[in-house]
Amino acid sequence: MAYSETKVVLGGLAHIPIIIGFFYLIKRQYSLGAMLRTNKNALSNTFANASATPSKESIQVNKASNNKSASKEVANTKEILSKTTGTVKKTVKKSLHSDVPVNTYKPKAPFTGTVTENYSVLKDGAIGKVQHITFDLSNADPEFKYVEGQSCGIIPAGEDAKGKPHRPRLYSIASTRFGDNFAGNTLSLCVRQLQYEKDGETINGVCSTYLCNLSPGDKVKISGPVGKEMLLPEEEDSNIIMLATGTGIAPMRAYLRRMFEPTEIEKTKWNFRGKAWLFMGAPKTANLLYDSDFEHYKSKFPENLRYTKAISREQNNSKGGRMYIQDRVLENAEEIFNMIENPKTHIYLCGLKGMEPGIDEAMTAAAASKGLNWSELRPQLRKAGRWHAETY
Ligand code: FAD
Ligand code: A2P
Repeated sequence: MAYSETKVVLGGLAHIPIIIGFFYLIKRQYSLGAMLRTNKNALSNTFANASATPSKESIQVNKASNNKSASKEVANTKEILSKTTGTVKKTVKKSLHSDVPVNTYKPKAPFTGTVTENYSVLKDGAIGKVQHITFDLSNADPEFKYVEGQSCGIIPAGEDAKGKPHRPRLYSIASTRFGDNFAGNTLSLCVRQLQYEKDGETINGVCSTYLCNLSPGDKVKISGPVGKEMLLPEEEDSNIIMLATGTGIAPMRAYLRRMFEPTEIEKTKWNFRGKAWLFMGAPKTANLLYDSDFEHYKSKFPENLRYTKAISREQNNSKGGRMYIQDRVLENAEEIFNMIENPKTHIYLCGLKGMEPGIDEAMTAAAASKGLNWSELRPQLRKAGRWHAETY
């Protein structure tokens, strides 16, 4: 049978709906896959980052696109979790920290801040050199905003042995988002100069020496802010246990100012009503950083702040050795674990990396005295966003 040209064209057209249908099915399959992948990422981010919540005062430095995709993730995540428990839904909703700024200034394109002050935070007779250094951020465009518990990068001036720019070093931010002057345009650090002996020679750390020797007016390359591990919870009735050694006090100083400094309270409208307990480790009394501020807060807010010191070279533990914060944790095991049993309690650990095994050991013994297993409890606390650690 011979086909006319018209019949051939009509026959071809009749296949078009089938081809369109075929492409539609392929597209649908891909969109579904992408949606599932997005939700999976949102879920894993949730549990990786579920440390704390963004705060009331909105931080508007995140690029609009970041916020858009983050809120899309929240929406997807909420949808996929809508059949699960209320507790999980609540955690997911609060966990993305989408309004907490991160990497506004990357190490390759840092902001140049100006030093406004640089003073010692040690008393006479202290060991080493520890400085409180403040930078003016007021000319930053985009604004250099940060929240309590974040860190920043410092790129020391000069070059390394290979003639390359120095790599950035991280430092915990010691000020609140409002800065020490409450104007919201400064950032402060608490820096110990690294010094050690090698082959009979004193070696000075590159970045810490650079920072400790800065003078007001000096220009400094700053990147960041970075980090979401050490953020404070938003709830005003949270309980905050802080374990710090040396400059590990930096984020804790910011928390305590946020909780107890009158001008901060006025600015934030955040009325902390929980219990805060600071354990601070220092080699000598003269090395206790910001001690008079904390003593003052304690005297003004005796119901809300406890302050326990471990002064390693002046006090002995029960075995006659140096008194470390883990010994203080053991001494107070009962009360600490009573607090941990409350889901509103968060624990923050910052300072020497070396203290982590000691703290773990103390927590293991303390937990055991309450019939609890620390190796099971710690990951649970972490997963619930209640165990926050940053050591170096
Ligand atoms: P470098 O010149 O980089 O020298 C460091 C190197 O010296 C080490 O890598 C090691 O190889 C060597 N070294 C060190 N000690 C010895 C020794 N005893 N014997 C032999 N070799 C040795 N520091 C603060 O002071 N305050 C903070 O708030 C703070 N926050 C931090 C937050 C985070 C998240 C991190 C990761 C680190 C933080 N640090 C902080 C540490 C800081 O980043 C630097 O590591 C520190 O200042 C040393 O840098 P540096 O350039 O002076 O030393
Ligand atoms: P020490 O140096 O007497 O052994 P700083 O940074 O100002 O030196 O303070 C750090 C504090 O942490 C010091 O009191 C130091 O004690 C103490 N420390 C040192 N090693 C540990 C450790 N493994 N666990 C807990 N604290 C420690």
